[in-house]
Amino acid sequence: MTRRFLFVLGSSRAEGNTELLARRAAEQLPADVEQQWLSLAEHPLPDFVDLRRDSDHVQPPTGSTPALFLDATLAATDIVIASPVYWYSVSGLTKRYLDYWSGWLRTPGIDFKATLAGRTLWGVAALADAEPSVADPLVGTLNNSAAYMGMRFGGVLLGNGSRRGDVLDDTEALARAKTFFAQDAPLARFPHQAG
Ligand SMILES: Cc1cc2nc3c(=O)[nH]c(=O)nc-3n(C[C@H](O)[C@H](O)[C@H](O)COP(=O)(O)O)c2cc1C
Repeated sequence: MTRRFLFVLGSSRAEGNTELLARRAAEQLPADVEQQWLSLAEHPLPDFVDLRRDSDHVQPPTGSTPALFLDATLAATDIVIASPVYWYSVSGLTKRYLDYWSGWLRTPGIDFKATLAGRTLWGVAALADAEPSVADPLVGTLNNSAAYMGMRFGGVLLGNGSRRGDVLDDTEALARAKTFFAQDAPLARFPHQAG
């Protein structure tokens, strides 16, 4: 299967540090790798509503924007969550996209979990703090989500910056971006399963 990367941009501002860093990493992808970029700010998903009933059968989330993201997600071999660090975790826009995964898990006919199993989740995130470990909740959210889905996890490429463009001064992050997507992405495990 040709590799197809879906970049889900979760910043509430355009061309922010997260996107700049993700684009630097994506520049290194081989030419035959397809790329699709979707901004959650440009294509706002409606509030997610948990429509589960006792039977666990739900109405599929309807509307053209959820369908856009669902189709793109199903078509991707690699999903890159490019979210700034907001309150130590993913942005609200990103969280809402992940909440939609719960609806898609129970949508008849698409086999969402089986389709994504074995595919790869990656993260790219900018944060203002100079200490990368404060982003551990974001890393944990993505790692555990990948583990739950039976996906591979390539880790999170972190970059430092506050004002738009700051990340281009983070030379260490730019160096990591050069090889980020070439890294091995093992099957994700929950922390209690690791080791
Ligand atoms: C709502 C909000 C919450 C934020 N929370 C954090 C945080 O918890 N830790 C941190 O280091 N930076 C935090 N920041 C700073 C952003 O992570 C930083 O400005 C980053 O460069 C934004 O990425 P972007 O340019 O891709 O939008 C926050 C910014 C906003 C707007």
